[in-house]
Amino acid sequence: MVCLGNICRSPLAEGILKSKVDTSKIFVDSAGTGHWHVGNEPDKRSIAVGKKYNIDITNQRGRQFNVTDFENFDLIYVMDNSNKENVLAMAENDFQREKVKLILDEIFPGENVDVPDPYLGGTAGFENVFKMLDEACEQIAHRL
Ligand code: 4NP
Repeated sequence: MVCLGNICRSPLAEGILKSKVDTSKIFVDSAGTGHWHVGNEPDKRSIAVGKKYNIDITNQRGRQFNVTDFENFDLIYVMDNSNKENVLAMAENDFQREKVKLILDEIFPGENVDVPDPYLGGTAGFENVFKMLDEACEQIAHRL
């Protein structure tokens, strides 16, 4: 699960997907394309909306996406088209590029919909992000 800062959207996506799959069989992680929040806890607003729905993300710490992630993961879900561009710019071949998927394609196939960056907005944005990610992760878990 990849976003820009790895403190708002992708930590929620990681926590939500983990709650829906057998984590002894499927390894779920998240990262940001940016470096600003490496080592940081998720944003308090993401922690709060997660807690509201019984998803505890407090143990997560920010890390930056890197090229080894193309080898370590079968699927790379990006939150928006900007994340997608940044991740694809690091890919070295079509096998790696094909792993990269816009997460909301899971529920709005082919519509190219972004998970909006809630960082500079209010708490309603985080609730909205949670709901989108919950639906998308439901589909992902179903397929996995
Ligand atoms: P995220 O949100 O990509 O959903 O984690 C952001 C968090 C921090 C920043 C940007 C987006 N930032 O610029 O610090």
